[in-house]
Amino acid sequence: MDQSHKPSSLSNSLFLLFLLLSTNLLTLFISTTVYSSCSLNTPPATTTTAANSALKEDDLQVPDKPQTSSDLPPEFLAFTSAQKLPFGFNTNMDSDRIFPPVGRPCTLFPDELRRFMSYKVNGSCPDDELLAQKLLLKGCEPLPRRRCHPAAPPEYVEPYPLPDSLWTTPPDSSVVWTAYTCKNYACLINRKRNQKGFDDCKDCFDLAGREKARWALPSTGGSLDFSIDEVLAVKKPGTIRIGLDIGGGVGTFAVRMGERNITIITTSMNLNGPFNSFIASRGIVPLYISISQRLPFFDNTLDIVHSMHVLSNWIPTTLLHFLLFDIYRVLRPGGLFWLDHFFCVGEELEEVYAPIINSIGFEKVKWVVGPKLDRGPELREMYLSAILEKPLKNSW
Ligand SMILES: *[C@@H]1O[C@H](CO)[C@@H](O)[C@H](O)[C@H]1NC(C)=O
Ligand SMILES: *[C@@H]1O[C@H](CO)[C@@H](O)[C@H](O)[C@H]1NC(C)=O
Repeated sequence: MDQSHKPSSLSNSLFLLFLLLSTNLLTLFISTTVYSSCSLNTPPATTTTAANSALKEDDLQVPDKPQTSSDLPPEFLAFTSAQKLPFGFNTNMDSDRIFPPVGRPCTLFPDELRRFMSYKVNGSCPDDELLAQKLLLKGCEPLPRRRCHPAAPPEYVEPYPLPDSLWTTPPDSSVVWTAYTCKNYACLINRKRNQKGFDDCKDCFDLAGREKARWALPSTGGSLDFSIDEVLAVKKPGTIRIGLDIGGGVGTFAVRMGERNITIITTSMNLNGPFNSFIASRGIVPLYISISQRLPFFDNTLDIVHSMHVLSNWIPTTLLHFLLFDIYRVLRPGGLFWLDHFFCVGEELEEVYAPIINSIGFEKVKWVVGPKLDRGPELREMYLSAILEKPLKNSW
Protein backbone atom coordinates (compact mmCIF):
# COMPACT_ATOMS: atom_id res chain seq x y z
CA MET A 1 0.00 0.00 0.00
CA ASP A 2 1.19 3.52 -0.77
CA GLN A 3 2.25 5.10 2.48
CA SER A 4 3.23 8.52 1.10
CA HIS A 5 0.04 10.33 2.15
CA LYS A 6 0.30 9.14 5.72
CA PRO A 7 1.31 11.46 8.56
CA SER A 8 4.98 11.02 9.27
CA SER A 9 5.77 12.89 12.46
CA LEU A 10 8.17 10.98 14.67
CA SER A 11 5.75 10.57 17.58
CA ASN A 12 3.06 9.18 15.32
CA SER A 13 5.46 6.69 13.81
CA LEU A 14 6.73 5.65 17.21
CA PHE A 15 3.20 5.19 18.43
CA LEU A 16 2.30 2.98 15.48
CA LEU A 17 5.48 1.00 15.97
CA PHE A 18 4.47 0.46 19.56
CA LEU A 19 1.01 -0.57 18.44
CA LEU A 20 2.38 -3.07 15.95
CA LEU A 21 4.83 -4.48 18.48
CA SER A 22 2.18 -4.91 21.11
CA THR A 23 -0.07 -6.51 18.50
CA ASN A 24 2.65 -8.95 17.54
CA LEU A 25 3.34 -9.76 21.16
CA LEU A 26 -0.35 -10.41 21.59
CA THR A 27 -0.35 -12.69 18.56
CA LEU A 28 2.61 -14.57 19.99
CA PHE A 29 0.79 -14.89 23.30
CA ILE A 30 -2.36 -16.14 21.61
CA SER A 31 -0.48 -18.63 19.45
CA THR A 32 1.20 -20.14 22.47
CA THR A 33 -1.98 -20.43 24.51
CA VAL A 34 -4.66 -21.17 21.96
CA TYR A 35 -4.37 -24.93 22.25
CA SER A 36 -5.54 -24.95 25.82
CA SER A 37 -8.94 -23.81 24.59
CA CYS A 38 -9.00 -25.94 21.45
CA SER A 39 -8.72 -28.93 23.69
CA LEU A 40 -12.03 -28.57 25.39
CA ASN A 41 -11.54 -31.47 27.69
CA THR A 42 -8.78 -29.58 29.46
CA PRO A 43 -9.60 -27.11 32.23
CA PRO A 44 -8.78 -23.57 31.05
CA ALA A 45 -6.00 -22.97 33.55
CA THR A 46 -3.73 -25.85 32.50
CA THR A 47 -0.28 -25.06 31.18
CA THR A 48 0.26 -25.06 27.44
CA THR A 49 2.53 -28.10 27.39
CA ALA A 50 -0.04 -30.23 29.16
CA ALA A 51 -2.73 -28.86 26.90
CA ASN A 52 -0.64 -29.51 23.80
CA SER A 53 -0.19 -33.16 24.60
CA ALA A 54 -3.84 -33.44 25.58
CA LEU A 55 -4.75 -31.96 22.21
CA LYS A 56 -3.28 -34.90 20.33
CA GLU A 57 -5.75 -37.28 21.93
CA ASP A 58 -8.66 -35.00 22.51
CA ASP A 59 -9.06 -33.10 19.29
CA LEU A 60 -10.31 -36.27 17.68
CA GLN A 61 -12.93 -36.60 20.31
CA VAL A 62 -16.59 -37.07 19.52
CA PRO A 63 -19.32 -36.10 21.99
CA ASP A 64 -20.21 -39.57 23.19
CA LYS A 65 -16.86 -40.00 24.97
CA PRO A 66 -17.29 -39.51 28.74
CA GLN A 67 -16.31 -36.04 30.00
CA THR A 68 -15.89 -36.88 33.67
CA SER A 69 -12.50 -35.21 34.07
CA SER A 70 -13.82 -31.87 32.86
CA ASP A 71 -15.00 -28.78 34.69
CA LEU A 72 -16.94 -27.61 31.70
CA PRO A 73 -20.71 -28.10 31.38
CA PRO A 74 -21.80 -31.14 29.36
CA GLU A 75 -23.94 -29.12 26.97
CA PHE A 76 -20.94 -26.89 26.22
CA LEU A 77 -18.83 -29.93 25.44
CA ALA A 78 -21.62 -31.48 23.41
CA PHE A 79 -21.80 -28.36 21.25
CA THR A 80 -18.11 -27.60 20.87
CA SER A 81 -16.55 -31.04 20.54
CA ALA A 82 -15.36 -32.10 17.12
CA GLN A 83 -18.24 -33.66 15.23
CA LYS A 84 -17.65 -36.23 12.52
CA LEU A 85 -19.16 -35.44 9.14
CA PRO A 86 -21.69 -38.11 8.14
CA PHE A 87 -20.26 -38.32 4.61
CA GLY A 88 -16.62 -38.28 5.65
CA PHE A 89 -13.87 -36.07 4.30
CA ASN A 90 -15.08 -32.80 2.78
CA THR A 91 -12.79 -30.96 0.39
CA ASN A 92 -14.30 -27.53 1.11
CA MET A 93 -13.35 -27.96 4.74
CA ASP A 94 -10.27 -30.02 4.08
CA SER A 95 -11.41 -32.09 7.03
CA ASP A 96 -13.65 -34.98 8.04
CA ARG A 97 -14.94 -33.22 11.13
CA ILE A 98 -16.33 -29.85 12.18
CA PHE A 99 -15.56 -27.79 15.29
CA PRO A 100 -18.62 -25.66 16.16
CA PRO A 101 -17.35 -22.22 17.16
CA VAL A 102 -17.52 -20.24 20.39
CA GLY A 103 -15.39 -17.34 21.56
CA ARG A 104 -12.00 -18.53 22.73
CA PRO A 105 -12.37 -16.72 26.11
CA CYS A 106 -15.59 -18.62 27.01
CA THR A 107 -13.65 -21.20 29.02
CA LEU A 108 -11.95 -18.44 31.02
CA PHE A 109 -15.26 -17.90 32.82
CA PRO A 110 -16.25 -21.42 33.86
CA ASP A 111 -18.77 -20.37 36.52
CA GLU A 112 -20.78 -18.11 34.24
CA LEU A 113 -20.40 -20.59 31.40
CA ARG A 114 -21.77 -23.36 33.62
CA ARG A 115 -24.77 -21.25 34.58
CA PHE A 116 -25.36 -20.31 30.95
CA MET A 117 -25.16 -23.90 29.71
CA SER A 118 -27.27 -25.45 32.50
CA TYR A 119 -30.76 -26.14 31.19
CA LYS A 120 -32.98 -29.02 30.27
CA VAL A 121 -32.43 -30.05 26.66
CA ASN A 122 -35.59 -29.29 24.66
CA GLY A 123 -37.02 -27.42 27.66
CA SER A 124 -37.19 -23.70 28.49
CA CYS A 125 -33.91 -21.78 28.66
CA PRO A 126 -33.33 -19.81 31.85
CA ASP A 127 -34.36 -16.14 31.59
CA ASP A 128 -30.72 -15.04 31.74
CA GLU A 129 -30.18 -12.26 29.21
CA LEU A 130 -27.98 -10.27 31.58
CA LEU A 131 -25.69 -13.22 32.29
CA ALA A 132 -25.45 -14.03 28.58
CA GLN A 133 -24.63 -10.44 27.65
CA LYS A 134 -21.94 -10.09 30.33
CA LEU A 135 -20.32 -13.29 29.14
CA LEU A 136 -20.47 -12.12 25.54
CA LEU A 137 -19.12 -8.65 26.30
CA LYS A 138 -16.14 -10.14 28.15
CA GLY A 139 -15.19 -12.00 24.99
CA CYS A 140 -17.23 -15.22 24.99
CA GLU A 141 -18.48 -14.30 21.54
CA PRO A 142 -20.06 -15.99 19.79
CA LEU A 143 -21.85 -17.56 22.74
CA PRO A 144 -22.35 -21.29 22.46
CA ARG A 145 -25.63 -22.40 20.94
CA ARG A 146 -28.18 -23.88 23.33
CA ARG A 147 -30.80 -26.59 22.86
CA CYS A 148 -33.69 -24.89 24.68
CA HIS A 149 -36.46 -22.34 24.06
CA PRO A 150 -35.49 -18.74 24.84
CA ALA A 151 -37.52 -16.68 27.29
CA ALA A 152 -40.34 -15.00 25.38
CA PRO A 153 -43.20 -12.69 26.39
CA PRO A 154 -46.30 -14.73 27.22
CA GLU A 155 -48.67 -12.32 25.46
CA TYR A 156 -46.68 -11.38 22.38
CA VAL A 157 -48.65 -9.55 19.72
CA GLU A 158 -47.77 -9.12 16.03
CA PRO A 159 -45.76 -5.94 15.28
CA TYR A 160 -47.43 -2.88 13.82
CA PRO A 161 -47.43 -2.99 10.02
CA LEU A 162 -45.02 -0.89 7.99
CA PRO A 163 -44.75 2.05 7.72
CA ASP A 164 -46.49 2.71 11.09
CA SER A 165 -43.99 0.50 12.91
CA LEU A 166 -41.09 2.83 12.05
CA TRP A 167 -42.20 5.65 14.36
CA THR A 168 -44.59 3.99 16.80
CA THR A 169 -43.57 2.82 20.26
CA PRO A 170 -44.11 -0.95 20.25
CA PRO A 171 -46.41 -2.64 22.80
CA ASP A 172 -44.77 -3.50 26.14
CA SER A 173 -45.89 -7.08 25.60
CA SER A 174 -43.26 -7.49 22.84
CA VAL A 175 -40.37 -7.50 25.34
CA VAL A 176 -39.02 -9.74 28.12
CA TRP A 177 -38.20 -7.00 30.67
CA THR A 178 -36.30 -9.02 33.29
CA ALA A 179 -32.84 -7.69 32.41
CA TYR A 180 -33.66 -3.97 32.52
CA THR A 181 -34.28 -1.39 35.23
CA CYS A 182 -37.32 -0.15 33.33
CA LYS A 183 -40.21 -2.57 32.96
CA ASN A 184 -42.11 -0.79 30.20
CA TYR A 185 -41.58 1.69 27.37
CA ALA A 186 -43.15 4.61 29.23
CA CYS A 187 -40.35 4.28 31.79
CA LEU A 188 -37.68 4.21 29.07
CA ILE A 189 -39.17 7.26 27.37
CA ASN A 190 -39.29 9.19 30.63
CA ARG A 191 -35.92 8.20 31.97
CA LYS A 192 -34.14 11.20 30.50
CA ARG A 193 -36.21 13.29 32.91
CA ASN A 194 -36.46 10.96 35.87
CA GLN A 195 -33.23 9.02 36.10
CA LYS A 196 -29.72 10.05 36.97
CA GLY A 197 -26.64 8.28 35.65
CA PHE A 198 -25.30 7.66 32.19
CA ASP A 199 -27.43 4.97 30.66
CA ASP A 200 -26.61 4.28 27.07
CA CYS A 201 -28.70 6.35 24.69
CA LYS A 202 -30.84 7.68 27.50
CA ASP A 203 -33.31 9.69 25.47
CA CYS A 204 -33.44 7.62 22.32
CA PHE A 205 -36.52 5.50 23.06
CA ASP A 206 -38.53 8.72 22.80
CA LEU A 207 -39.34 8.68 19.10
CA ALA A 208 -41.11 12.04 19.36
CA GLY A 209 -38.04 13.70 20.92
CA ARG A 210 -34.51 14.32 19.72
CA GLU A 211 -34.56 11.06 17.77
CA LYS A 212 -37.02 12.54 15.28
CA ALA A 213 -34.53 15.08 13.91
CA ARG A 214 -31.28 13.09 13.94
CA TRP A 215 -29.35 13.24 10.65
CA ALA A 216 -32.38 14.85 9.00
CA LEU A 217 -31.61 18.56 9.34
CA PRO A 218 -29.18 20.29 7.00
CA SER A 219 -25.97 20.91 8.96
CA THR A 220 -24.36 24.29 9.39
CA GLY A 221 -20.72 24.82 8.41
CA GLY A 222 -18.22 23.23 10.80
CA SER A 223 -20.94 21.28 12.59
CA LEU A 224 -20.20 17.82 13.96
CA ASP A 225 -23.75 16.77 13.01
CA PHE A 226 -23.60 15.91 9.34
CA SER A 227 -26.91 15.26 7.65
CA ILE A 228 -27.53 12.05 5.73
CA ASP A 229 -28.19 13.97 2.53
CA GLU A 230 -24.94 15.87 2.76
CA VAL A 231 -23.03 12.61 3.25
CA LEU A 232 -24.81 10.83 0.39
CA ALA A 233 -24.03 13.80 -1.87
CA VAL A 234 -20.36 12.76 -1.69
CA LYS A 235 -21.17 9.88 -4.05
CA LYS A 236 -23.07 9.51 -7.31
CA PRO A 237 -26.84 9.27 -6.65
CA GLY A 238 -28.01 5.71 -5.96
CA THR A 239 -24.55 4.21 -5.43
CA ILE A 240 -24.92 3.97 -1.65
CA ARG A 241 -27.39 1.08 -1.31
CA ILE A 242 -26.39 -1.21 1.55
CA GLY A 243 -24.55 -0.76 4.81
CA LEU A 244 -24.03 -1.20 8.49
CA ASP A 245 -24.61 1.00 11.54
CA ILE A 246 -22.33 -0.05 14.40
CA GLY A 247 -23.89 0.50 17.81
CA GLY A 248 -26.94 2.06 16.25
CA GLY A 249 -29.05 2.75 19.36
CA VAL A 250 -32.72 2.32 18.45
CA GLY A 251 -32.12 2.05 14.70
CA THR A 252 -33.12 5.55 13.64
CA PHE A 253 -30.18 5.84 11.26
CA ALA A 254 -31.42 2.75 9.41
CA VAL A 255 -34.97 4.15 9.39
CA ARG A 256 -33.77 7.42 7.85
CA MET A 257 -31.64 5.58 5.31
CA GLY A 258 -34.62 3.35 4.52
CA GLU A 259 -36.58 6.44 3.49
CA ARG A 260 -33.91 6.78 0.79
CA ASN A 261 -34.22 3.10 -0.15
CA ILE A 262 -30.88 2.27 1.49
CA THR A 263 -30.77 -0.97 3.51
CA ILE A 264 -28.87 -0.71 6.79
CA ILE A 265 -28.25 -3.42 9.36
CA THR A 266 -27.94 -2.10 12.91
CA THR A 267 -25.70 -3.68 15.54
CA SER A 268 -26.61 -3.11 19.15
CA MET A 269 -26.17 -4.56 22.61
CA ASN A 270 -29.03 -4.44 25.13
CA LEU A 271 -27.35 -2.17 27.68
CA ASN A 272 -30.10 -1.63 30.24
CA GLY A 273 -32.74 -1.44 27.53
CA PRO A 274 -34.41 -3.75 24.99
CA PHE A 275 -32.56 -2.22 22.04
CA ASN A 276 -32.66 -5.30 19.81
CA SER A 277 -36.38 -5.93 20.40
CA PHE A 278 -37.16 -2.26 19.81
CA ILE A 279 -35.16 -2.08 16.57
CA ALA A 280 -36.86 -5.23 15.30
CA SER A 281 -40.31 -3.94 16.28
CA ARG A 282 -39.67 -0.86 14.15
CA GLY A 283 -39.03 -3.15 11.17
CA ILE A 284 -35.24 -2.76 11.04
CA VAL A 285 -32.76 -5.66 11.12
CA PRO A 286 -30.90 -5.77 14.46
CA LEU A 287 -27.60 -7.63 14.74
CA TYR A 288 -26.58 -8.67 18.23
CA ILE A 289 -22.79 -8.51 18.04
CA SER A 290 -20.33 -6.50 20.10
CA ILE A 291 -17.60 -4.25 18.72
CA SER A 292 -15.09 -7.05 19.37
CA GLN A 293 -16.64 -9.48 16.93
CA ARG A 294 -15.31 -9.79 13.36
CA LEU A 295 -17.95 -8.21 11.13
CA PRO A 296 -20.03 -10.96 9.51
CA PHE A 297 -19.70 -9.58 5.98
CA PHE A 298 -17.43 -10.52 3.14
CA ASP A 299 -14.57 -8.29 1.98
CA ASN A 300 -15.37 -5.32 -0.28
CA THR A 301 -19.15 -5.58 -0.03
CA LEU A 302 -20.78 -2.68 1.86
CA ASP A 303 -21.34 0.83 0.49
CA ILE A 304 -21.37 2.55 3.87
CA VAL A 305 -20.50 1.92 7.52
CA HIS A 306 -21.73 4.42 10.09
CA SER A 307 -21.04 4.57 13.81
CA MET A 308 -22.07 7.21 16.31
CA HIS A 309 -20.76 7.60 19.89
CA VAL A 310 -19.67 3.98 20.14
CA LEU A 311 -16.18 4.03 18.69
CA SER A 312 -14.34 6.10 21.29
CA ASN A 313 -11.57 6.14 23.84
CA TRP A 314 -13.12 3.41 25.99
CA ILE A 315 -11.96 0.84 23.41
CA PRO A 316 -8.42 -0.52 23.93
CA THR A 317 -6.24 0.91 21.15
CA THR A 318 -5.15 -2.45 19.74
CA LEU A 319 -8.76 -3.60 19.52
CA LEU A 320 -9.69 -0.29 17.87
CA HIS A 321 -6.89 -0.72 15.32
CA PHE A 322 -8.21 -4.18 14.36
CA LEU A 323 -11.78 -2.87 14.28
CA LEU A 324 -10.93 -0.02 11.90
CA PHE A 325 -9.18 -2.45 9.57
CA ASP A 326 -12.27 -4.67 9.70
CA ILE A 327 -14.47 -1.73 8.67
CA TYR A 328 -12.03 -1.03 5.82
CA ARG A 329 -12.22 -4.71 4.85
CA VAL A 330 -16.01 -4.92 4.56
CA LEU A 331 -16.37 -1.59 2.74
CA ARG A 332 -16.24 -1.87 -1.01
CA PRO A 333 -13.70 0.29 -2.84
CA GLY A 334 -15.20 3.78 -2.90
CA GLY A 335 -17.34 2.94 0.15
CA LEU A 336 -17.81 5.46 2.95
CA PHE A 337 -16.99 5.20 6.64
CA TRP A 338 -18.96 7.82 8.56
CA LEU A 339 -17.30 8.15 11.93
CA ASP A 340 -19.93 10.14 13.81
CA HIS A 341 -19.02 11.79 17.13
CA PHE A 342 -15.96 9.75 18.07
CA PHE A 343 -14.99 11.08 21.49
CA CYS A 344 -11.81 11.33 23.50
CA VAL A 345 -10.10 13.77 25.85
CA GLY A 346 -7.64 16.64 25.31
CA GLU A 347 -4.50 15.67 23.40
CA GLU A 348 -5.62 12.06 22.90
CA LEU A 349 -7.02 12.87 19.49
CA GLU A 350 -3.79 14.25 18.09
CA GLU A 351 -1.46 11.95 19.94
CA VAL A 352 -3.31 8.65 19.79
CA TYR A 353 -6.49 8.43 17.75
CA ALA A 354 -5.86 10.58 14.66
CA PRO A 355 -2.62 8.65 13.93
CA ILE A 356 -4.49 5.34 14.23
CA ILE A 357 -7.38 6.49 12.04
CA ASN A 358 -5.02 8.04 9.50
CA SER A 359 -2.93 4.89 9.28
CA ILE A 360 -5.69 2.62 7.93
CA GLY A 361 -5.61 3.89 4.32
CA PHE A 362 -8.88 5.82 4.04
CA GLU A 363 -9.05 9.07 2.14
CA LYS A 364 -10.38 11.99 4.17
CA VAL A 365 -13.50 13.54 2.69
CA LYS A 366 -14.53 15.46 5.79
CA TRP A 367 -12.89 15.86 9.22
CA VAL A 368 -14.44 18.05 11.89
CA VAL A 369 -13.18 18.33 15.48
CA GLY A 370 -15.10 20.12 18.21
CA PRO A 371 -15.56 20.26 21.97
CA LYS A 372 -17.95 17.91 23.74
CA LEU A 373 -19.62 20.04 26.40
CA ASP A 374 -22.45 17.92 27.82
CA ARG A 375 -20.50 17.04 30.99
CA GLY A 376 -18.78 20.42 31.30
CA PRO A 377 -15.83 22.07 29.52
CA GLU A 378 -13.42 21.30 32.38
CA LEU A 379 -13.30 17.63 31.30
CA ARG A 380 -11.80 18.76 27.95
CA GLU A 381 -13.74 16.14 26.04
CA MET A 382 -13.49 16.24 22.27
CA TYR A 383 -15.58 14.98 19.38
CA LEU A 384 -14.45 14.01 15.92
CA SER A 385 -16.90 13.54 13.05
CA ALA A 386 -15.39 12.35 9.80
CA ILE A 387 -16.28 10.99 6.39
CA LEU A 388 -13.60 8.60 5.20
CA GLU A 389 -13.57 6.90 1.82
CA LYS A 390 -11.98 3.60 0.93
CA PRO A 391 -9.90 4.24 -2.22
CA LEU A 392 -11.68 3.19 -5.40
CA LYS A 393 -8.46 1.93 -7.01
CA ASN A 394 -5.57 0.07 -5.44
CA SER A 395 -7.23 -0.27 -2.04
CA TRP A 396 -5.43 -3.53 -1.40
C1 LIG B 1 -39.40 -31.08 22.55
O1 LIG B 1 -40.25 -30.00 22.88
C2 LIG B 1 -41.34 -29.84 21.99
C3 LIG B 1 -42.04 -28.52 22.31
O2 LIG B 1 -42.01 -28.23 23.68
C4 LIG B 1 -42.25 -31.05 22.08
O3 LIG B 1 -43.35 -30.91 21.20
C5 LIG B 1 -41.43 -32.28 21.71
O4 LIG B 1 -42.21 -33.45 21.86
C6 LIG B 1 -40.18 -32.40 22.56
N1 LIG B 1 -39.35 -33.48 22.03
C7 LIG B 1 -38.73 -34.34 22.79
C8 LIG B 1 -37.90 -35.37 22.09
O5 LIG B 1 -38.83 -34.34 24.00
C1 LIG C 1 -37.73 4.12 -3.21
O1 LIG C 1 -38.23 3.06 -3.99
C2 LIG C 1 -39.59 3.19 -4.35
C3 LIG C 1 -40.02 1.90 -5.04
O2 LIG C 1 -39.08 1.50 -5.98
C4 LIG C 1 -39.74 4.42 -5.27
O3 LIG C 1 -41.07 4.59 -5.62
C5 LIG C 1 -39.26 5.65 -4.48
O4 LIG C 1 -39.29 6.80 -5.31
C6 LIG C 1 -37.87 5.44 -3.97
N1 LIG C 1 -37.48 6.55 -3.07
C7 LIG C 1 -36.34 7.20 -3.17
C8 LIG C 1 -36.14 8.30 -2.18
O5 LIG C 1 -35.46 6.90 -3.97
